[in-house]
Amino acid sequence: MRSEKVYFNINNLAFLGALNWCIICCASALSSCLSLDDVLTRSRSSCVVALVTKNCIADQDVDNYGYVQLRNLLQHKNLGIVVDFVHIDSKWPNGEPLRKGNVEVGNIVLFRKVKKDRTCLLPSTRKQSIAPVILNGINDLATLVDFVNDGCETYFSTSGGPSVEGLHRNEILKTLFHVKNISNIQSRKVFPTQSLQFCEVKDQSCSDTNHMLHSNPSKIPECEKIDLPSKNSFFHNYVKTSKPVIFKNVLRNWPAFSKWTNGYLREKYGKNNIHIKLTPLGEYEGVEPRNMWENHEKFKIPQSVLNQLAFPDLVVVRPATKNLNFSSFMDIVEKVSNGSIKDMSAYLEYSSIPDHLPELEDDIQEDLFFQGLLKRDHLNIWLSDGRTLGKLHFDQYDNLLCQISGKKQVMLFDPHNNHQMYEGHIPEATLSYNQTSNTFHRRHLLESTSMVMSPVDILKPDYSRFPLFGDTYPLNCTLEEGDVLYLPSFWWHEVQSFPNVTAGRNLAINFWYDPFLIKEFPCAECKLDVNPKYRHLL
Ligand SMILES: *[C@@H]1O[C@H](CO)[C@@H](O)[C@H](O)[C@H]1NC(C)=O
Ligand SMILES: *[C@@H]1O[C@H](CO)[C@@H](O)[C@H](O)[C@H]1NC(C)=O
Ligand SMILES: *[C@@H]1O[C@H](CO)[C@@H](O)[C@H](O)[C@H]1NC(C)=O
Ligand SMILES: *[C@@H]1O[C@H](CO)[C@@H](O)[C@H](O)[C@H]1NC(C)=O
Ligand SMILES: *[C@@H]1O[C@H](CO)[C@@H](O)[C@H](O)[C@H]1NC(C)=O
Ligand SMILES: *[C@@H]1O[C@H](CO)[C@@H](O)[C@H](O)[C@H]1NC(C)=O
Repeated sequence: MRSEKVYFNINNLAFLGALNWCIICCASALSSCLSLDDVLTRSRSSCVVALVTKNCIADQDVDNYGYVQLRNLLQHKNLGIVVDFVHIDSKWPNGEPLRKGNVEVGNIVLFRKVKKDRTCLLPSTRKQSIAPVILNGINDLATLVDFVNDGCETYFSTSGGPSVEGLHRNEILKTLFHVKNISNIQSRKVFPTQSLQFCEVKDQSCSDTNHMLHSNPSKIPECEKIDLPSKNSFFHNYVKTSKPVIFKNVLRNWPAFSKWTNGYLREKYGKNNIHIKLTPLGEYEGVEPRNMWENHEKFKIPQSVLNQLAFPDLVVVRPATKNLNFSSFMDIVEKVSNGSIKDMSAYLEYSSIPDHLPELEDDIQEDLFFQGLLKRDHLNIWLSDGRTLGKLHFDQYDNLLCQISGKKQVMLFDPHNNHQMYEGHIPEATLSYNQTSNTFHRRHLLESTSMVMSPVDILKPDYSRFPLFGDTYPLNCTLEEGDVLYLPSFWWHEVQSFPNVTAGRNLAINFWYDPFLIKEFPCAECKLDVNPKYRHLL
């Protein structure tokens, strides 16, 4: 009863007398401050907003009406925001004073929720302090709500309901694209099972399924393929809905399309040093049993790490690497392509164009797609003889993959139920390449894990071990020369490249953007959400 009254009074600024009463009321009921130790604890599950005081009450000397209103607005709402007081002279457990960051009495400070560190599997040391975000000056409710929404990544309005941006976000999250809405074809119908490897050729049912992937490919639904849409339509219909799409034939006018022959690239960049990847069979970053590796018995993973690995018997195989000049790399590509080098594949993978081949940027037209809406993080080149297979993984970027030479079949799985993909940390290992003997070795198990790979081999899924994979819905996005694939962030993809036979190569570039939709990872139950960086686009 009492708190309702307070709530009512405070939201009617006309009742200033009542407001004073209210402050006295609240202050006496709550005349204590959060210690900074409390802040650390609370910030593990909440965002903490605090009024800096010298006596742990809403001090009438400072302009804090907005604070009191905010406190009441959020009182019975479960938005993951703690609103309280902190004392100006308080100290963090490590002795560092709150004052250090120019904090003054009357400021409203915000301590962001501490995100779980999903990158490290070793026990982490507890944070000792959090840098406050400070709001000073007039704290009217509207300013304060904006400040809190920005800092806490929330979406409420001055009336307590969702803000306009919040409504927009809810709408976006409700209308995300799901392959299962357009298809009833689940993975178990199209990907042959592990047991096929062992079945007899005369077993009819077995060979039937085995052929399915190739003899009956129309079963797997394909990506929407369209002419280049307007920037606005691209953003609203695909980026905001996390919907993969192929733009047909949009690169043919790029200078890159005709200019970047092997000869041209060799002439321009022959002397430049580059970093390439090597594998024996053209498979990049697959997952395989750890016991295939030398010294696997001696290599001990700490028990605390082991406890967190769902598949400690598997490793992600990183390719061998080599530094050489571009001209020597082209020699290898041409020799692999014409068969004079065997049992080896060389790949210039996600190599930065601005860093290594800067002038090439003049030959592409990024502004066809969107202009400055999303922030570009990388522009990469991908070049090989064309027989490469990039195994199933996701990237934390919105991707535009531009096919210049050869084809890529990109098999996609949506990121909406990552238990089905068995998302998690998988230990890594790196192949070594012996140049003298021209052989590869499984030698280096690493003290690190990959956070973006799936343990499922889609070409021969082990349904007994990964039964949920059978419930996924694949989407086939196959790019031809001149096409561009929009591959939304966090979609799982396996990329089979094919060469342009005349040119003896596969050549693509891609743009990686700070994604519109983000997700914590590895975390199978975490969901996509609007990237707080793009709140202004809502
Ligand atoms: C698509 O499927 C998902 C998951 O089953 C469902 O939640 C969603 O409402 C569907 N969306 C549309 C537009 O039908
Ligand atoms: C994927 O689609 C392409 C054509 O767009 C087709 O040639 C290919 O066979 C399909 N792949 C599978 C595995 O269905
Ligand atoms: C590239 O490196 C090879 C081997 O080190 C060397 O023989 C060749 O001259 C270099 N090519 C250019 C263009 O620098
Ligand atoms: C294969 O390509 C390399 C490099 O371009 C060339 O030197 C060699 O003669 C070619 N071999 C055949 C069999 O065509
Ligand atoms: C590489 O292969 C050569 C020739 O077989 C061998 O003598 C050498 O020891 C190998 N190097 C390493 C690091 O294994
Ligand atoms: C392969 O590349 C050549 C240029 O090297 C081009 O003329 C040809 O159209 C390409 N082939 C296909 C199938 O795209």
